[in-house]
Amino acid sequence: PSQLYGEERDNSDGVELGSREDLARLQADLAKGGKVDATPLINGKPVSGKARPVISPVDGKTVAGSVVEAGEDQAREAMKIAAAGFRAWDRTDVARRAAALDNAANLMEARRGPLLSLLQVEAGKTIDDAIAELREAVDFCRYYAAQARKLFAEGEAMPGPTGEENRLVHRGRGVFVCISPWNFPLAIFLGQVAAALAAGNAVVAKPAEQTPLIAHEAVKILLEAGVPGSVIQFVPGDGRIGAALINNAAVAGVAFTGSTETAWAINRALAAKNAAIVPLIAETGGINAMIVDATALPEQVADDVVLSAFRSAGQRCSALRLLCVQDDVADKIVTMIKGAAEELKLGDPRDLSVQIGPVIDAEAKTGLEAHIAEISKTAKTRLATKAPAEGTFVGPHIFEIGKVEDLKREVFGPVLHVVRWKAGKLDALLDAIAASGYGLTLGVHTRIDSTIEAVTERMPAGNIYVNRNMIGAVVGTQPFGGVGLSGTGPKAGGPNYLKRFASEQVVAVNT
Ligand code: SER
Repeated sequence: PSQLYGEERDNSDGVELGSREDLARLQADLAKGGKVDATPLINGKPVSGKARPVISPVDGKTVAGSVVEAGEDQAREAMKIAAAGFRAWDRTDVARRAAALDNAANLMEARRGPLLSLLQVEAGKTIDDAIAELREAVDFCRYYAAQARKLFAEGEAMPGPTGEENRLVHRGRGVFVCISPWNFPLAIFLGQVAAALAAGNAVVAKPAEQTPLIAHEAVKILLEAGVPGSVIQFVPGDGRIGAALINNAAVAGVAFTGSTETAWAINRALAAKNAAIVPLIAETGGINAMIVDATALPEQVADDVVLSAFRSAGQRCSALRLLCVQDDVADKIVTMIKGAAEELKLGDPRDLSVQIGPVIDAEAKTGLEAHIAEISKTAKTRLATKAPAEGTFVGPHIFEIGKVEDLKREVFGPVLHVVRWKAGKLDALLDAIAASGYGLTLGVHTRIDSTIEAVTERMPAGNIYVNRNMIGAVVGTQPFGGVGLSGTGPKAGGPNYLKRFASEQVVAVNT
């Protein structure tokens, strides 16, 4: 993985800013940040219009910059230009496409200061999270560049038992629409776009409404890195723009990360067109559980739970939502988690010692507060941390609920739900967890091999983490993505991702 500032600690779950020099370099870099004025970028050119301010969640008043949102006409125009740009890009040598992505990775590393600062101000990221995200974005570009060279540079000769020459080649599909979320506004945004570009597609990218600025900077970097203006179009806007793109006749594929409900809506809209049948690559949510039995090491469990449930203010798709602890050790473990969570420093993440920043916006805060008010009527409150009043903060909360089924939906924030289970009832617990239909991440803490086997064999989860935390999948190392209600696969950052963005063609020549 990309190394920026000091050593990575335990995969990408934190950054050890060990030396004074590292810290001084980071502070000097962050000082290079500033406001960003984002616009649609169509055919490589900014489109002017009425701008709205983008207000930072860190205090609810700092202006991170401004954005001109695209209208439906511009969405149509973007699709038209991308459709025209596609052919030449698809025919461009794979080595050149990959080189553009490598250039983008280098440019991001060189411009780390402004990018990290923007991740902090626009998305409310702590410095650990901002650095981990920038590294992930860089890694996606380099990994997909390397994969494209490996998979697409030459066709694959197939057997020709009757004397024919048969060759399998990969091509771009056409125009890929990429719709990305606010929780990884740089890494997931670029991950989708880089994969689609590497496979030879033209891209029309719509970032999350909350985080258009960092996505705008990413597209400018791609353009500077050598991706032609006709090949990458940037159309910031709300769900109406997303719908206009999906409903456009030129769509040849969609990459989407967000809610299960929106993935359903995209699927329905694509099917309703009675036009080309195009793939949807969807990454959605999960009610991610961790199973802890009486043989687990309590100190390690406490550390891993706090990190998995509360890091990034719980705003990761991978985050732990439901901790299932064996009855015998539940009191001890919950007390340790509570103690550790109370020590976390909450606040404006521009203070580099802050460990938990804000949730993304007022709507997210209100939704989480409504869930907290509702669940506290029936659950036992084990922790209710107060949060700063300015900005959109929610402190870590822990609720003990009666049974797995009491948590009915994904709660996207720093709220942990705990259920107890009794020795001998592991099978029933696994059935109850699987019954939600989600299958993204799953944690297990145990020293019993047969339990690890039972969990990994039986559970429909995309990423299973044993005796460690369950966030921060590393590109090329822990390909990431779920099954069932959690997504379609293939996994981002894995060896099979790019092929889904490409179409296959076989040429059989009678020699
Ligand atoms: N890829 C991220 C993680 O593993 C998703 O939220 O944490």
